[in-house]
Amino acid sequence: MSIPPAASPHEHIIHLSWAYLYSAALNAVAELGVADRLEGGPKSAATLAEELGVQAQPLYRALRLLATVGVFIEDEGERFALTPAADVLRTNVPGSMRDGVLMVSHETFWRPAGKLATTVRTGETQFAHIFGAPFFEHFARDPSIGPIFHRGMASFSDSENAAIAGSYDFSRFQRVVDVGGGHGGFLIEVLNAAPSARGVLFDAAHVLRDARIAAAGLAERCELVTGDFFKEVPGGDCIILKRILHDWADQAAIDVLRVCRRALTEGGRVIVVDTVIPPGNEPHAGKLLDVLMMVSMPGRERTEEEFRRMLAAADLRLERVIETPAMLSLIEASAA
Ligand SMILES: C[S@@+](CC[C@H](N)C(=O)[O-])C[C@H]1O[C@@H](n2cnc3c(N)ncnc32)[C@H](O)[C@@H]1O
Repeated sequence: MSIPPAASPHEHIIHLSWAYLYSAALNAVAELGVADRLEGGPKSAATLAEELGVQAQPLYRALRLLATVGVFIEDEGERFALTPAADVLRTNVPGSMRDGVLMVSHETFWRPAGKLATTVRTGETQFAHIFGAPFFEHFARDPSIGPIFHRGMASFSDSENAAIAGSYDFSRFQRVVDVGGGHGGFLIEVLNAAPSARGVLFDAAHVLRDARIAAAGLAERCELVTGDFFKEVPGGDCIILKRILHDWADQAAIDVLRVCRRALTEGGRVIVVDTVIPPGNEPHAGKLLDVLMMVSMPGRERTEEEFRRMLAAADLRLERVIETPAMLSLIEASAA
């Protein structure tokens, strides 16, 4: 993400300090479904407000802010239109980010972020203090909010799955197990790229209820298995952990890797898909995601060396790191 150039250090700091207001405005328009209402062409805030049953002036002000960063554009008649960035907020477009925005801008992320100083003092996420249970338990026990995370995650991943699956040759595997694979978006891409492989989508039962495997025409080639990846995962010659290790502190992540190592068949590979943080000051999405993982999960993003050490602790050898066109890298590991 780029930060707009600022005229002075003071402006730079002020801009960073209130950057959360863009997130708040995005959350509001995504929740209200504003972008869907603009499919047929530009509309004034008054017309939109009437259609949505909301207040025109507050809606206008939220849209006016977003138009400063390329999300919607206001014309001379005070009508708002879609831009490419606003377009992906529509619900029924391929690669819709509406659910992804609703997840990332949800209070389950920003309320713990508001306690970052406490996390820095204590080393502990404040998530359970705020919501009464750790992250995944919170989403599992409340059916009204579980889908906010799991649909959001699927939407977020949809924008990257094909590019990541296309960065590695999965066709030599026979049984690909996607551990914590969510609704199956990544496994679907992998199975399409590896037509002779069979798949196993492994996750919690409440998540697999919304799995997309059957809708993708892959029910014959792919099983859905529920369970806990800290205990046991199904065996295979390719075990994928995509956006999993970054949710957990080192020891818990090593525990998951050990379970995967036990399930790995002869000559197989564990494929970790996460951000790999490069050295230096350059912007990298992983550095942002890392702070999100710190505040809401007990997790973190890692450097290549940190992955190497963690894999070694689980009797796995890091073979290579493959960059992908997405923010995530693919880390190939074999039995040590
Ligand atoms: C950050 S999401 C990643 C989902 C998917 N791999 C992707 O890239 O979109 C983490 C996933 O791990 C699952 N998960 C968390 N704890 C788990 C556990 N103990 N056993 C099995 N799955 C778990 C969650 O339900 C969720 O689907």
